[in-house]
Amino acid sequence: MATTEYHEPVLLAETLGLLDLKPGSLVVDGTLGGGGHAEAILERTAPDGRLVGLDLDPEALREAGRRLAPFGERVKLVHASFRRLEDVAADLAPTPIDGIVLDLGVSSHQLDEPARGFRFGDGPESPLDMRMDGAGSRPTAAALLADLSAEDLERLFSEFGQLPGARRLARAIVARRTSEPLVTAGDLVSLVRETGIGRGRKHNPATLVFQALRIAVNDELGALEEGLQAAIRVLRPGGRLAVIAYHSLEDRLVKQTFRAAERGCTCPPEWPACRCGFEPSLQVLTRKPIVPGEDEIARNPRARSARLRGAIRLEAA
Ligand SMILES: C[S@@+](CC[C@H](N)C(=O)[O-])C[C@H]1O[C@@H](n2cnc3c(N)ncnc32)[C@H](O)[C@@H]1O
Repeated sequence: MATTEYHEPVLLAETLGLLDLKPGSLVVDGTLGGGGHAEAILERTAPDGRLVGLDLDPEALREAGRRLAPFGERVKLVHASFRRLEDVAADLAPTPIDGIVLDLGVSSHQLDEPARGFRFGDGPESPLDMRMDGAGSRPTAAALLADLSAEDLERLFSEFGQLPGARRLARAIVARRTSEPLVTAGDLVSLVRETGIGRGRKHNPATLVFQALRIAVNDELGALEEGLQAAIRVLRPGGRLAVIAYHSLEDRLVKQTFRAAERGCTCPPEWPACRCGFEPSLQVLTRKPIVPGEDEIARNPRARSARLRGAIRLEAA
């Protein structure tokens, strides 16, 4: 398969612009995927810049490894979550990290692979798995549907999918699983259809249901929260962070984390003096997120929901 078919990098020029790379820079790509952003970063930091690429998915690492092989010793690939950025930084020490990029979510290849069960259009027999690392320690989507209470399922669908009818679907799942388990995409899609939720809406409600399950299975928001804090801690002063989000909850978390790091002090404004001692640690580069232009969306419809934000690490006070 040609590498561009694996995953077309989103907002590539804009991401490179925010990272402001120089020859010799050391960059960590926390979401390597097909290696599209990584390849462009290595070209921009030639002749001696280095890149450490992380991914949870061993298949992504294999694909990116093939693509980035021409860069030889300049590349190191690590099978890990970006939650572990501090371990990665400890291995690189004392070399300072100049840039970190996080391009969240799943790659086109993961979405297009029926065996991964990431979306409902993959055919009725595709398993409800959805784990990004293929077979990690986390429960599959089928296990969540089998084990969570009706209240927890409702919370999952309304919080992560903003699904109208979350309660109705949660109750229908609990009623159905007493007679037959939900194990395939087809089982879940039929049940969503039977509940009638979202009928007449522009978008198929099953899209929201599958997205909510994927976010829960991979604890995507928890990983992002930890990964952002770790990224701020390990960047060198003057180093840059670029994050591309595809979901409003992720983008909100990035925006709020950046703002809080820029503000520093968390004391109530009515207090006469700061008691918390938190210093500003970021300068935000994007007051509003950078979004793809019409050309990019026409070329790559999956870029449509992308939101890019960037920040510079400040000197510690
Ligand atoms: C949108 S793709 C990245 C595409 C990449 N920028 C490119 O140009 O090919 C997201 C990748 O991040 C990986 N991923 C998601 N969450 C992760 C995490 N917490 N830690 C490491 N990798 C993660 C996924 O497995 C997927 O391969």
